[in-house]
Amino acid sequence: MSGLRASPQRAYPRVKSSGMPRRQFQTDSSGPATSRPACNEKTSSLWHEVELLKGKIGMQKTIVNSWNEWDPLKHVIVGRADDCHIPPDEPALEAKIPEDSDMRGQWGRRPQDTIDRANALLDAFAAQLEKRGVRVDRPTALDHSVPVTTPDFHTESQFGCMPPRDVLLTVGSEMLEATMSYRCRWFEYLNYRPLMQQYFDEDPNFRHESAPKPRLTDKDYHPDYLSDKIGVEKRLQWTAEKFFVTTDEEPLFDAADVLRFGRDLVVQHGFTTNLKGIEWLRRHFPDHRVHAVNFLGDPYPIHIDATFTPLRPGLILNNPQRRLPADQRKMFEANGWEIVDAAQPAHNAPPPLCYSSTWLSMNVLVLDPKTVCVEKSEVYQAEQMDKLGMEVVEVDLRDAYAFGGGLHCCTADVFREGGCEDYFPNM
Ligand code: NVA
Repeated sequence: MSGLRASPQRAYPRVKSSGMPRRQFQTDSSGPATSRPACNEKTSSLWHEVELLKGKIGMQKTIVNSWNEWDPLKHVIVGRADDCHIPPDEPALEAKIPEDSDMRGQWGRRPQDTIDRANALLDAFAAQLEKRGVRVDRPTALDHSVPVTTPDFHTESQFGCMPPRDVLLTVGSEMLEATMSYRCRWFEYLNYRPLMQQYFDEDPNFRHESAPKPRLTDKDYHPDYLSDKIGVEKRLQWTAEKFFVTTDEEPLFDAADVLRFGRDLVVQHGFTTNLKGIEWLRRHFPDHRVHAVNFLGDPYPIHIDATFTPLRPGLILNNPQRRLPADQRKMFEANGWEIVDAAQPAHNAPPPLCYSSTWLSMNVLVLDPKTVCVEKSEVYQAEQMDKLGMEVVEVDLRDAYAFGGGLHCCTADVFREGGCEDYFPNM
């Protein structure tokens, strides 16, 4: 039975890459083998091997370690569709829902049959990963019907825990809970706290961090962004001018706006991450180089992972409707990276009640530099991966898209083999 209600307020409103330069940091032999590997001091291949060995012989149940989007994946979180809600109207969210979307004017718990179907797909994806030797953990869903109330705002429901990638940013041995930028997502990190506590108990090197909770008052949002009268042309102009729904009142970022390239973090400045959020990340990761990027052509720039998809060192897919501007390509070109247009999506429209565009086709999960999970119906994307020399693992997930995204969105890294390398020595 659907709990969807009408809004009380308004009808709302093959490519070779091996020749590219890269440098691995040297092991610092003076420190203990288990000390935290910081990006500026070492990748510590020795540290790494010791940790891996410990994992293999069962001395430690969990090792948190992931520096990029492509090294061999060994441990991951896969989200759940449990109790997922379409949240009520709020400033940042409304601007995300396209004018012609069937989500306008509705909020409440999603219909149970759609939750069951999405969970069946997420469970099957988790089983597929486990069969390939990847450890999979799952969140503990909150009651998302509980309103979010702080001294600064109130909203009637929460969202869900299908996309851990939105909330959790893994950088080395750290997992950082993002500020988030929607009021309905303020408590979303709580879905993952049982896992964070378990990792904290099991991995003595795990750094559990949380970015400062934002106040999310009306000052965080441009009110004029809410008008139904704003058409796509105007939105494209605004986004090109870097005028987004969120202001720079306080640091805001969603973890899914960040891509990890070893020593470099590439962060999309858009609706869900503001400049102060990027500056906060820069100060929080002083050993990294943090690069702000913008992609022209996206009227709703929310999360980078249907726009820019690194597959392995030296190779990135870019959404052909949202190309990286020439001036922002320099760091990639100077270091031998190739940016290729992603294949066209197989679908003309997203599934019903979905927040994302058809470009979830490129929201893939890389299992290692030669293997990638692609959604089963995305035949053009799979074909392109094959041509690029990747083994494709087909995963049926489309009926879960509406719950928060694709294969990259519904996962968060815990452990990938490998350390922190400099893939951009020529800056
Ligand atoms: N905002 C992106 C989704 C990112 C997962 C899109 O709709 O294409």
